[in-house]
Amino acid sequence: MSILHIDSSTRLTNSNTRIIGQYIVNALNANTVHRDLVVNPLPAISAQDLMGVHSSSDEQRPSLQTQIALSDKLIQELRDADTLIIGAPIYNFGIAASLKQWIDAICRAGVSFKYSNQGPIGLMNIKRAFIITASGGTPIGGDMDFVSGYLAHICAFIGVEEILHIDASGSKGSPEQIIESGKQQVDLILSKEPTNKLSNEQTNNVAAAI
Ligand SMILES: Cc1cc2nc3c(=O)[nH]c(=O)nc-3n(C[C@H](O)[C@H](O)[C@H](O)COP(=O)(O)O)c2cc1C
Repeated sequence: MSILHIDSSTRLTNSNTRIIGQYIVNALNANTVHRDLVVNPLPAISAQDLMGVHSSSDEQRPSLQTQIALSDKLIQELRDADTLIIGAPIYNFGIAASLKQWIDAICRAGVSFKYSNQGPIGLMNIKRAFIITASGGTPIGGDMDFVSGYLAHICAFIGVEEILHIDASGSKGSPEQIIESGKQQVDLILSKEPTNKLSNEQTNNVAAAI
């Protein structure tokens, strides 16, 4: 198993999405690539280069080549992962600008998805995505939540098989209560997973052998 963990909260401490995301990483205990879009922001992209990346243009303009190389790297991180974790605070009813920049870099026709007669097909072949959506009060899954549904759509679009939502809404109470609730949601999901049970069995077998 390998994990790609994306963080987009501007809060480097006391961030509910960061704490719950790290809890999932610890619970899965697998190879993890952590892409922190706040600590290491993606470079700004010009309008012309955005169009060039989107169409995988072969123009030799250096700024475009740099952006395509970055996009290739970000897509490879997805290709190498079978589990995706996205920490997504709601900012002004949408996703963080840094996360949108990442999405613009990884959605590329013919690379991360392709068009077919049956509609677009995702090419990333990722088993599951945990989408942790945090808010100050906006109910997750409600009419004003434009984040969790959008991210689920993007995940399905690039080829994620199963989407698992973690609700870190501020309406759940204090930060401690939000985090506790998030952890419980994670525990419940993982307790139902055959892969996880298998790894527990393996752990027990190893312990028994010792
Ligand atoms: C710039 C900004 C805009 C925000 N906009 C909203 C919003 O539209 N709706 C909402 O419920 N909470 C909003 N919040 C609150 C955050 O979603 C909330 O603090 C959340 O816990 C942030 O995620 P984090 O705990 O991972 O940092 C906003 C916070 C900031 C800093």
